[in-house]
Amino acid sequence: MSTPFDFDKLVDRNGTASLKWDKYKGSDIIPLWVADMDFPSPPEVVEALHERVNHGVFGYTSAPESLGETVQTMLRQEYGWEIKREWLIWLPGLVCGLNVTCRAVGERNDGVFTFTPIYPPFMTAPVLSGRSLVSAHLYLHGTRWEMDLDKLERAITPRTRLLLLCNPHNPTGRVWSRKELEDCAALAERHNLVICSDEIHSGLVLDGRRRHIPMAMLSPEIADRTITLNAPSKTYNIPGLGCSFAVISNPGLHRDFRGAMNGIVPHVNLFGYVAAQTAYQYGEPWRRDLLDYLRSNHELVCQAVEDMPGLSTTPVEATYLSWIDTRQAGIEQPARFFEQAGVGLSDGGDFGLPGFVRLNFGCRRELLKEALKRMGDALRNLSN
Ligand SMILES: Cc1ncc(COP(=O)(O)O)c(C=O)c1O
Repeated sequence: MSTPFDFDKLVDRNGTASLKWDKYKGSDIIPLWVADMDFPSPPEVVEALHERVNHGVFGYTSAPESLGETVQTMLRQEYGWEIKREWLIWLPGLVCGLNVTCRAVGERNDGVFTFTPIYPPFMTAPVLSGRSLVSAHLYLHGTRWEMDLDKLERAITPRTRLLLLCNPHNPTGRVWSRKELEDCAALAERHNLVICSDEIHSGLVLDGRRRHIPMAMLSPEIADRTITLNAPSKTYNIPGLGCSFAVISNPGLHRDFRGAMNGIVPHVNLFGYVAAQTAYQYGEPWRRDLLDYLRSNHELVCQAVEDMPGLSTTPVEATYLSWIDTRQAGIEQPARFFEQAGVGLSDGGDFGLPGFVRLNFGCRRELLKEALKRMGDALRNLSN
């Protein structure tokens, strides 16, 4: 079926200083690792950037007034979440936000909890901030990864001050349900933990039965202990432009967060603001088509993995990332094995769970098919 946006169109990213593609420069390895997509951003975004370039003056910039309103409107329309403009803090990246959060909450050597497997900066930010990392594994219940709150409760100590949550979750693709969020939040309340909720993948819910619920929407009391981080970067494929934001309603937390940024965190790039504003205002038709395209890619991955000896995966509710268990395949270093087969995946060990790989299906379907074929062939050769 043809769509107004042609996600099948080949756009050569070689020689464009792409982190994803440069890793395998000069070799025949299909890069399905770092979380950006191979698609051009919505045409309106590209056009707005052209217009801004044509202006020709690129001085210091502050967040346009209208961008705050745009974010307020987006959060209201998408989730029914009413935020005040003064709760917003602009950031040049979400990872920056995670690190600032760890520095803003508690004291040196305090504990920061997170569930693993997890996007690696959740594990490095506490350590880089002089905090100690406390973690527990998610567990697989049927085909869904779930939070083990008993384990969380046992892992934390009186010095644990902060809980880093990823919702929707990278790398498992879970969209946490209201009940799961409520149980997690109740535990945070019982132990007086600040919650940092990274919601960067919230615009990429693929499963029509799931809805993203911002943690801070559960109740005013939970909002009071929550730092929400979000960005248009994953949804509209503009991560190279670095425009993200924090929403913090608690004045004390807001002040401490800004304090930890002072003198260190640079302003957001002016193109980041332009792209963010345009994406949120005009990118919805593109996003809808993107989600359809990603759903089909996701199906393709699930079907192909089912036919791969020793591999299994779970349905992705959000994100364009599949989390694949290779432990029954009899391969020692799965990411290396698939690289040698011509496919570059992320190594589960980096996410705290060796034996898994993460596959980014935010790419042209033909490329994805070729990558899946290479993976399947390599595994079948192994078992022959
Ligand atoms: C959960 C999560 N948070 C943050 C980021 C990165 O955010 P940024 O590029 O804005 O630092 C990613 C990128 O993959 C992510 O998956």
